[in-house]
Amino acid sequence: MKVGVVGVGWAGQQHIKAYSAREDVDLVGIAGLEEDSREQLAAEFGVAHSVARWEDLLELDGLEAISVAVPTFLHAPIALAALERGLHVLCEKPIALNGDEAQRMVAAARSAGRVLDVAFNHRRRGDVQKLRGLIEDGRLGRPYYTKAWWLRRTGIPTLGSWFTQSSLAGGGPLVDIGVHVLDYALFLLGHPEVVAVSASTYDLLATAGFGSSPASNKTGATGDKTFDVEDLASVFMRLADGGTLLVEASWAAHRRDGDEFGITLYGTDGGAELIVDDYAPKGALRVFTDDDGAAVATTVPVKTGRGHRAVIEQFAQTIRSGDWRGHDGSGAAALARIVDACYRSAAEQREVRLDS
Ligand SMILES: NC(=O)c1ccc[n+]([C@@H]2O[C@H](COP(=O)([O-])OP(=O)(O)OC[C@H]3O[C@@H](n4cnc5c(N)ncnc54)[C@H](O)[C@@H]3O)[C@@H](O)[C@H]2O)c1
Repeated sequence: MKVGVVGVGWAGQQHIKAYSAREDVDLVGIAGLEEDSREQLAAEFGVAHSVARWEDLLELDGLEAISVAVPTFLHAPIALAALERGLHVLCEKPIALNGDEAQRMVAAARSAGRVLDVAFNHRRRGDVQKLRGLIEDGRLGRPYYTKAWWLRRTGIPTLGSWFTQSSLAGGGPLVDIGVHVLDYALFLLGHPEVVAVSASTYDLLATAGFGSSPASNKTGATGDKTFDVEDLASVFMRLADGGTLLVEASWAAHRRDGDEFGITLYGTDGGAELIVDDYAPKGALRVFTDDDGAAVATTVPVKTGRGHRAVIEQFAQTIRSGDWRGHDGSGAAALARIVDACYRSAAEQREVRLDS
């Protein structure tokens, strides 16, 4: 299968590496605006065509599928153009700027009869998969109260970049890292419907000059760089099964250093906690149960997951199988609608229902 990758930033590089490692895929082209790193990647991975613009990548003869790993405002235009040409599309998260754009992508995939997958690599982590197995085996009973988070102290992706402008990114940490959290939380809970959300968002630290990622070398100085998204979001979600899901996401907060994501679930027969510090390949997973009145805490061994490699494997296998049911982007579009409702709830300072 001949594939191409649009975008040569961190995300695009994960796709390039994962395709290159597969025997059943021929990575024929990459596109990206940074000529030096693009040419270097093309040489390293033996990619025949290296072009700047995504429009030129789509012209390549025999191309069957592309990955879209560019700033979020370009996801829908590129995916729509590719689907119209009959290509299969693997898009980075979030699927699009908002639920309406996402819905247009889903409709295009359906009418083209092509695969539209979205890269939610965190649910493919070994620790998340292990926890899913424990829940499926009934170790927690019925989970009814869940809190999931991704929090950074100073992790605003480069100030003034597309990440911090709502017209280019669709929002701040909620749509960036919070959407991963929402995805793995709903995956772990067995995809209950979210019926209502009540959200708060803040931008107090970023607009005061705090919280830029140390890696971007701009800590503490926003200058006149645009920042019109939130730096912290907190959401209370009501689930159709009567459960509650809390989601927190921050790029900037006065908390301990580093980057942490995780989840705690309380169920009728047990609880569980997964904490992943600084992108550790294996998180700390513990299960809490009651043994005749005695509290038992068990540390559960986990394996390293395959992240983007697993996402790309599924994309390639789905295309080859010819059975594309459930691979039309609709799951990711549902998350986009939930995120839209969260931003609306925060703006209007009220609960927003999704079931009416
Ligand atoms: N799944 C994950 O864990 C994960 C992690 C990081 C980013 N992402 C997602 O991946 C996407 C890209 O993020 P990133 O951090 O790699 O961004 P980035 O800014 O580092 O890279 C974006 C790339 O898009 C290219 N690009 C921009 N306009 C283009 C055009 N007109 N034609 C061709 N190429 C163009 C740029 O040249 C660059 O190579 C975003 O949607 C982001 O949310 C996902």
